[in-house]
Amino acid sequence: MKRSNIGIIGATGAVGQEILALLEKRDFPLDTIKLFASPSSLGITKRFKNREISVEILNNNSFDELDIAFFSAGGSISKKYVPIAQRCGCTVIDNSSAFRMNPSVPLIIPEINSPDMKMHQGIIANPNCATIIMLMALAPLHKIARIKRIVVSTYQAASGAGARAMEDLLEETRSHFTNALYERKVIPFPYAFNLFLHNSARYDNDYCEEELKMIYETHKILKDENIRINATCVRVPVLRAHSESINVEFYDPIDTATAYQILQESPGIKIVEDRTSNRFPMPSDAVGQDEVICGRIRQDLSQKNTLDIWVVADQLLKGAALNAVQIAEILIQQPLKQVFCDQNI
Ligand SMILES: NC(=O)c1ccc[n+]([C@@H]2O[C@H](COP(=O)([O-])OP(=O)(O)OC[C@H]3O[C@@H](n4cnc5c(N)ncnc54)[C@H](OP(=O)(O)O)[C@@H]3O)[C@@H](O)[C@H]2O)c1
Repeated sequence: MKRSNIGIIGATGAVGQEILALLEKRDFPLDTIKLFASPSSLGITKRFKNREISVEILNNNSFDELDIAFFSAGGSISKKYVPIAQRCGCTVIDNSSAFRMNPSVPLIIPEINSPDMKMHQGIIANPNCATIIMLMALAPLHKIARIKRIVVSTYQAASGAGARAMEDLLEETRSHFTNALYERKVIPFPYAFNLFLHNSARYDNDYCEEELKMIYETHKILKDENIRINATCVRVPVLRAHSESINVEFYDPIDTATAYQILQESPGIKIVEDRTSNRFPMPSDAVGQDEVICGRIRQDLSQKNTLDIWVVADQLLKGAALNAVQIAEILIQQPLKQVFCDQNI
């Protein structure tokens, strides 16, 4: 296996820290690793394989020596620096939404569409976390019975909005018990003991950006724009791990026993439930776990060929960092240094 020079852009963030931990845990073959963040992280070090690594400030020369860069510093940083990395021959795995819908950028969930990686031109996009979690459960069923329509509601954790959102939830909850005042840093609404509709940008059709991502990214990954999708995204006061209630209609009949069997046999999926004690998957089951956890698969009583599925997953792992590292594990099997200068990206 080839060894490579790796960079993590956004290494101090919720996703970046998980990428670093996974590279160590999965013993990813690398020669050097460099960590980058904003000027406010100057002086910070992060531990990797018993070494302290200094976090560097990102600049135009950061990519000169890198083979693979994981970007997890938000869309504006990706838009500015990914083309620079690309010109240096550094292959980018981008966690932001900046390039996901670009036709020349593969949008990859390794268990579902890893062959699409072959067409990459220096950038591979990691899908939105809620999309990954939903499709891990639905793609294996789509192969058997072909999906006609999806109605999904998400219950998204604080960590989906980054490290400072987790701090907001913890501190606001703490202040509730001490009657102290806490000024939230990133979450716009009361959050402790509350929930709110996802606060990403709202469009003229009254959908928010997160909901539209679930629709368009699903079409791209499954290569089927005819699938009708209705998504409602909600932020709930859970620290880590998203949940999703999915109602899915198929063209062909599929019973619950078949669905359980298919999901049980699908890589990256775990079934967790105990029907006798009414115990179904909870976010706390998923924290720190690689697998997407499914359960409570029911036949929809209101229409044929339709199932309800409850899904939970640690969105910092399979919804972001783990998916990105899995992509890198496939990437290192291919030639690494290719310079892409004239792409319309
Ligand atoms: N959280 C999730 O579950 C999740 C899931 C899928 C995708 N994503 C995507 O992954 C990305 C990171 O999300 P996150 O949750 O990890 O956010 P986060 O916890 O807020 O971390 C943001 C990271 O970006 C760095 N950064 C900010 N400005 C920078 C600059 N000018 N130059 C270099 N680095 C800069 C921050 O560094 P400082 O610490 O120095 O500020 C920090 O390391 C976002 O694009 C997000 O949409 C997140």
